[in-house]
Amino acid sequence: MYSKEITQQLQKLTATLIKKQAAGSINKKDTDDLRNVLRFHEYRYYVLNDPLIADYEYDQLYKALEKIERDNPELITADSPTQRVAKGLTKDFPAARHLVPMLSLDNSYNSEDLIDFDRKAKELTGLKEMEYCVEPKFDGGSISLIYENDLLVRGATRGDGVEGDEVTTNIKQIRTIPLSAKFSDYGLQQVETRGEVLINKKNFTKYNEQLVEQGLAPLANPRNAASGTLRIKDPAEVAKRNLEAFVYHVSFFLLSKGKKLPKELTNHSDSLQMLWDLGFRSPQKEKKVLKGIDAVIKYCNEFEVKRDGLPYEIDGMVIKVNDFALQDKLGMTSHHPRWAIAYKFKARQGTSKLLNVEFQVGRTGSITPVAKIQPVPIGGVTVSSISLFNEDVIKEKDLRIGDTVLVERAGDVIPYIVKSLVDVRKGNEKKIHFPKNCPVCNSKLFKEEEEAVWRCINIECPAQVVERIIHFVSKDAMDIRGFGDANVRKFYELGLLKDIPGIYKLDFDTIGGMEGFGKKSVDNLQAAIANSKKQPLHRLIFALGIRFVGETTAKTLAQTVKHLLDFKNYSMEELQTLEDVGPRVAGSIHHFFSNRDNLRMLEQLEKSGLQLKNEKKQLASGGNLKGLTFLFTGTLPTLKRSDAEAMVEENGGQILSGVSTKLNYLVVGEDAGSKLEKAKKINSVKIISEEEFLQMISKK
Ligand code: IVH
Repeated sequence: MYSKEITQQLQKLTATLIKKQAAGSINKKDTDDLRNVLRFHEYRYYVLNDPLIADYEYDQLYKALEKIERDNPELITADSPTQRVAKGLTKDFPAARHLVPMLSLDNSYNSEDLIDFDRKAKELTGLKEMEYCVEPKFDGGSISLIYENDLLVRGATRGDGVEGDEVTTNIKQIRTIPLSAKFSDYGLQQVETRGEVLINKKNFTKYNEQLVEQGLAPLANPRNAASGTLRIKDPAEVAKRNLEAFVYHVSFFLLSKGKKLPKELTNHSDSLQMLWDLGFRSPQKEKKVLKGIDAVIKYCNEFEVKRDGLPYEIDGMVIKVNDFALQDKLGMTSHHPRWAIAYKFKARQGTSKLLNVEFQVGRTGSITPVAKIQPVPIGGVTVSSISLFNEDVIKEKDLRIGDTVLVERAGDVIPYIVKSLVDVRKGNEKKIHFPKNCPVCNSKLFKEEEEAVWRCINIECPAQVVERIIHFVSKDAMDIRGFGDANVRKFYELGLLKDIPGIYKLDFDTIGGMEGFGKKSVDNLQAAIANSKKQPLHRLIFALGIRFVGETTAKTLAQTVKHLLDFKNYSMEELQTLEDVGPRVAGSIHHFFSNRDNLRMLEQLEKSGLQLKNEKKQLASGGNLKGLTFLFTGTLPTLKRSDAEAMVEENGGQILSGVSTKLNYLVVGEDAGSKLEKAKKINSVKIISEEEFLQMISKK
């Protein structure tokens, strides 16, 4: 897409713009440069996975463009990088008729099927040997994209193949799909392309963890997650899920007047190259052009071995006759083309018997039902235990003890029960009764409205205490090596460890005398515990296991205060001014720091030598604006806007992008516009002058 030369030019331009931005001298003349540079960096980041600037720098340039467009709305173009951001909710998805029906592919499962396919293709074309283009079969949701005069004008789901849903706004949230592409360079006026929307395994797992943390049912698998996301009515939610797309097919095109068919559209492989050159993520690197079916079979087998190592799910390979003229000659049946076939990898499904359901208590008291099934090998792993997440999952799937169940395991994604095979029920299967009391401490279980999860709210519940300790020492938290789950449980049962502060007061003499603990392992454990005292504050915050506080929020919290216990004095409102902290998260943090036992625990940890201070914050010149939000409008009498904004951040405050109830101070200069009008309508926003602002900073 970008040659070496152009890459270097754009890098230079990026540096110039970053400097200009810092100096506050960017203006509307830079609009095109900003767009080109932003598009280039999006491509580096999302398509090539090889960014050339820091996220922060990208954000600054993006904000600069946003500002120019806000001040000069007449400059906005449909393909400006800012136009991905969706405003409001989608009402309906209108029906979208595909320019060419979206057919499915015939499936094959072994080399005999492929040899048969090849034989028929040779017969029908009269050729001795066929040339194929082979590429992965992406496992997501299929989409069609229409570009007219180089602009993305419509994105649609497959639907029934003839008509799908128009989901253009959602499609625009996918950063690997360009909002415009220079098809005109190839003499093309209108193009319909096909592709697959995916969610990569890492993002899928991360997203599911968040759902479970919030007491919601996780999404079944990456495939459902991707296709389901396309039909969500809130595009902002779509954006959060980080969808990706591969575009693998040109299904229709119209030439511009007087233009001839470009050579790129004479065979499939070249069309993938064209898409790649236009900035699409096509399977350009994954594809292979091969002569004869033996080479195809070999490549399919090679790829199957790589399957688990890929960042996204594929469920097979697609073999396509490369030459478009031959494709036309072969034509299609009513269901699928005769020029292509899918080769499906070994299924990652199996059937087994549901033997029992156990109920586990998590560190926040959540009760998770876990299905115990007759061990069954799936994709090289034996599965015997499967989380059912919550009561609703059991009800929705109408699972019963004794049922034969269909189990799926997708790559390194955790296994799940697809469904019960109702037809083979014998009649003696038993309903699953969700407990009313905690299976460990027997206290009554509670469920909040609109939540799917039952909880044991006894924070002394032994199961919770143990789980909290396990979380505290875990790899992403305090990372105390050699302190596995089994050791935590053992020490707890023996009364050697009662709570989190107890980790730092363990009696190593007693442990050393226990069976299975040699001197070396005790020394290592002791050293690992001592080392963990030096962990940075954000790890400690995450380790505390405050509900809804994941690693990202923990980092935000760690940067906010000089000392962790400062949060004692934070109100709900103050907490909500922090990034990504809404009422629910704020409520949980507030609740945690209002609890005396928690404060006592933190004091004990500090006494044991853990780091509760934010060292950076201690060094910073001030912090007078800690927890406060600001916005500037109009021309300030003495300060440059960018300098004033930097001052806010240096002093612990935060700049907001617009006037809202989250805003504490609007600093007003000359010729203030709509922001001031808006702020006047919100009582809680204080409107101040530059002078007052400077006073706030200098106050000791
Ligand atoms: S080609 C006319 N190529 O598999 C043929 N399809 O049942 C157009 N798929 O609906 C499809 N990866 O959603 C093609 N590299 C690939 C693919 C692919 C995944 C999906 C597609 C299609 C289904 C076939």
